[in-house]
Amino acid sequence: MPDDDLMARIVSLAKRRGFIFQSSEIYGGLNSCWDYGPLGVELKRNVKDAWWRAMVHTRDDIVGLDASILMHPKVWETSGHVSSFTDPLVDCKVCKARFREDTAPKSDEGKTVCPECGSGDLTEARQFNLMFKTFMGPVEDDSATVFMRPETAQGIFVNFLNVQAACRLKPPFGVAQIGKSFRNEITPGNFTYRTREFEQMEMEFFVPPGTDEKWYEYWKAARRDWYVALGLRKEKLRLRDHTADEMAHYAKACVDVEYEFPFGWSELEGVANRTDFDLSAHSEATRTKLSFFDPQSKERYTPYVIEPAAGADRATLAFLVDAYHEEEVKGETRVTLRLHPRLAPVKAAVMPLVKRDGMPERAHGIVAAFRAAGVNAMYDEAGSVGRRYRRQDEAGTPWCLTVDSQTLDDGTVTIRDRDTMAQERIASQEAVEVVRRKLEGT
Ligand code: GAP
Repeated sequence: MPDDDLMARIVSLAKRRGFIFQSSEIYGGLNSCWDYGPLGVELKRNVKDAWWRAMVHTRDDIVGLDASILMHPKVWETSGHVSSFTDPLVDCKVCKARFREDTAPKSDEGKTVCPECGSGDLTEARQFNLMFKTFMGPVEDDSATVFMRPETAQGIFVNFLNVQAACRLKPPFGVAQIGKSFRNEITPGNFTYRTREFEQMEMEFFVPPGTDEKWYEYWKAARRDWYVALGLRKEKLRLRDHTADEMAHYAKACVDVEYEFPFGWSELEGVANRTDFDLSAHSEATRTKLSFFDPQSKERYTPYVIEPAAGADRATLAFLVDAYHEEEVKGETRVTLRLHPRLAPVKAAVMPLVKRDGMPERAHGIVAAFRAAGVNAMYDEAGSVGRRYRRQDEAGTPWCLTVDSQTLDDGTVTIRDRDTMAQERIASQEAVEVVRRKLEGT
């Protein structure tokens, strides 16, 4: 199957089954903006929860933060974003396309050509700042200008002292945050891969200088392993070091965790050694000591920062793409989302074989038991059982439980595995426990 076609099928499934819709669709849509539907919102929440669990809840050395999107405008001057967070923008004089010069195709002589029409008749590149601006308060003048944050990281740096003092932390320690960021991208695209509004999952890990390279290596491996543990195929992941000319203005070293999407190898996450760039710059600008006094060595130092910065939307897209599976079953194409059970929007679908003889009531009772246990389950009675299985396969539901006539005799139900389609009978009383054990075992 050509890869363009594969992406089109995934986009179509995402819409049909309620994972992802175009924003403002009935108004013709808004370029690069997307809405997560009932299944998509569950999937993305599960991705963010898995990240939070790995970064915060299972560790002693990382705490969480939820900073505001709007920050003092000077933050972005100090961080370098006002002067340096730019892309070179070029216009084609022939077809009027507007595009980034640095990612455009090159002619044999090494000159940029228009990606739309191939012409070399282009305007000079001008630096275009990617930050969205708005106004705070009723007066729309320069003094009221504020920025929509282009990264969540700065909310962590400016809260360094607050968090460190409140939790009595000593480096090495980290602060994690999940939240929306905004960039006025020149060329958004590839579905939810590059958008102007997106969610980041970032963690700033503050370490004593001199230990930064060791921690950089640690986070590189830990972050790649996180994707693998949640089911991404190893051969579709790679780490790619940044070349000197693509390194961000604050970084000493940076590596991208890349995934091979149908549209090619693309960044899921960056792991950067930001040195003491941000804390030093904010210290200087505010005359606040954003440093740590080590009572043992009696030395004060500015910690270095290792930053794993991931995108919640990109990770969700990668999990969706990687899970998409087609096979021929009895002359029909069976589409399955082989999502890791912990990421699956619904863990168990409970179905009465027929809508009579007390089967719906028994099935509702089982759903209620799942809900009471905090496991997301749904009741499904529409259409033949075969069709219901197919629907759940497409939604990525790992287990289907069916109440049939035998349930009424001996209290057992069938449990069907999404990937193997194998079925076994279990006691309906134990259904929640069986699914829980399966979830824990994955
Ligand atoms: N604080 C560092 C930082 O923001 P970045 O590499 O520019 O680094 C981190 O962004 C991650 O945020 C990216 O790896 C990507 O997953 C996500 N991201 C960045 N721009 C995005 C966009 N326009 N659309 C969707 N996700 C984006």
